[in-house]
Amino acid sequence: MNKLRNATITAVGMYVPPKILNNKYFEKIVDTNDEWIITRTGIKERRIIEDGATSDLAARACQDLFNNSKVKPEEIDCIIVATVTPDMFFPATACLVQDKIGAKNAWGFDLSAACSGFLFALKTGASLVESGSYNKVLVVGADKMSSITDYTDRNTCVLFGDAASAVLLEPSESMEFGIIDQLLFVDGSGKDALHMKAGGSLNPATHETIDKKWHYIYQDGKAVFKVAVKGMADVSYDIMKKNGLSSDDVAYLVPHQANLRIIDATAERMGISKDKVMINIHKYGNTTAATIPLCLTEYYRDGKIKKGDNLILSAFGAGYTWGAIYLKWSLA
Ligand code: ACO
Repeated sequence: MNKLRNATITAVGMYVPPKILNNKYFEKIVDTNDEWIITRTGIKERRIIEDGATSDLAARACQDLFNNSKVKPEEIDCIIVATVTPDMFFPATACLVQDKIGAKNAWGFDLSAACSGFLFALKTGASLVESGSYNKVLVVGADKMSSITDYTDRNTCVLFGDAASAVLLEPSESMEFGIIDQLLFVDGSGKDALHMKAGGSLNPATHETIDKKWHYIYQDGKAVFKVAVKGMADVSYDIMKKNGLSSDDVAYLVPHQANLRIIDATAERMGISKDKVMINIHKYGNTTAATIPLCLTEYYRDGKIKKGDNLILSAFGAGYTWGAIYLKWSLA
């Protein structure tokens, strides 16, 4: 596709709630232990919001972005919220965020792609900028996973956390920087391995669906692990090759944080060393749409990303959904 211009990330923001649930806490509520959780997933602790919904996580992340940039809420043209835990089916969480942050000139919408949500939203937002239609698009990854987690199911409850993170997309100063390329996929035949059964039009909420715990995450971990490890590794390798990048050319892999073993396998396939892999899974667990922008925000603020760095963002999630984005960082 011919682009009029590139879209690039010009500001970042994040919010993680203060309440921490560490692995020891889970030893008290289900049959698990700290050692199993760390060795099988890499997670040590995760955050849980006690005073709000997904739109509150998202609005606080956007507020943090505004506090750290010159952009004002009223300048925002569009807000895209990637989430699988919207406050309500409707209105869209993007509308609630728009109101909470005072982005009075923005339109917006939600995008549902589970753990790949941020990547899909980033490309969608970039297209709005690349086409010349809009100049300031907020892309938010936000999930209150605690709202759909069964805290009696050891298979899933140790994995997830709540968080939000936001990036601002604006036109790049040159075609050299910004979002350069992407490989994005869905395969709905994966729906049986990872889903939330009830609450939608297939199984509207009833007493029976509640009794059956159908409003919680269901995951066949082993089945998802097998496809996720191959899917994320292959797509990350493929986007490098497609763009003629060697492992030396890549400054960082920015992977979705579902399982450290999936991340390690991806880095290995790309031939990159561990010090070039952004990691925050030990602190926050799997925060679904928020993991990738959280990594970007924390590493940028720690001074670890430089202007001109080649970043490969990659994810795999429910759907199945998966993909990778190649971007050249433009913030100094
Ligand atoms: N503590 C102790 N034992 C546990 C726990 C726990 N918290 N959870 C599961 N086990 C047990 C299982 O019951 C099983 O016992 P069994 O052998 O007696 O049946 C044993 O540990 C091994 O279970 P596995 O499922 O094989 O464990 P595995 O090594 O696969 O790890 C995990 C499980 C971490 C879930 C892994 O499969 C995984 O990461 N899967 C992919 C997750 C992913 O990428 N999801 C996509 C993104 S999420 C989204 O889109 C919303």
